[in-house]
Amino acid sequence: MRILIAYTSLSGNTRDVARLVRARCEERLHHVSWIETDIQGLDAAGPDPHHDLYVLGAWTDNGGRTPPEMKRFIVQLVEAVGKPPRVAVFGTGETQWGEEYYCGAVRRIAAFFDTRLPTLEIEQMPHGDRDTRTIRRWTDEVLAIAGAARAPTRRTPHHEDAARAIS
Ligand SMILES: Cc1cc2nc3c(=O)[nH]c(=O)nc-3n(C[C@H](O)[C@H](O)[C@H](O)COP(=O)(O)O)c2cc1C
Repeated sequence: MRILIAYTSLSGNTRDVARLVRARCEERLHHVSWIETDIQGLDAAGPDPHHDLYVLGAWTDNGGRTPPEMKRFIVQLVEAVGKPPRVAVFGTGETQWGEEYYCGAVRRIAAFFDTRLPTLEIEQMPHGDRDTRTIRRWTDEVLAIAGAARAPTRRTPHHEDAARAIS
């Protein structure tokens, strides 16, 4: 599959998870377009923004919110390809901000895309073999479901206000 991995990371935790996800996808011989939304836009994926699977990663900002860089990227993505049918969301957060807000960005983004693919939430950074195995297992599950569900890209109208829905 052609897979787009886009992530936002302030202090590196989410980047660490993104790297492990990428490594697993490439081990399985998928082609990965890699976007760091803090410094890159969708054009970094090359001339064709369409992919078979979109994997979005975010840290969570104050009050369980999605960081602005990821919101901006999602607006760009939806403008370019509509709401894709296969979106997998992962992220890092900290339970000390309250259970209600823990990894809120992951839940908001997944809800916005109404995705059937599983989400992945990691507390702070990936620690040791256990988290590495968890990330690999999640990636394998996403690849299996997305691979089986591959179908012609569903186009949806662009009238929804993406930035508002995930803020
Ligand atoms: C200003 C600020 C607000 C945060 N608010 C939340 C929050 O509401 N929920 C949460 O789970 N984590 C929250 N966090 C924790 C970060 O999401 C967490 O440390 C994350 O792993 C950082 O990822 P990064 O290293 O990729 O930037 C907050 C962190 C900062 C700096």
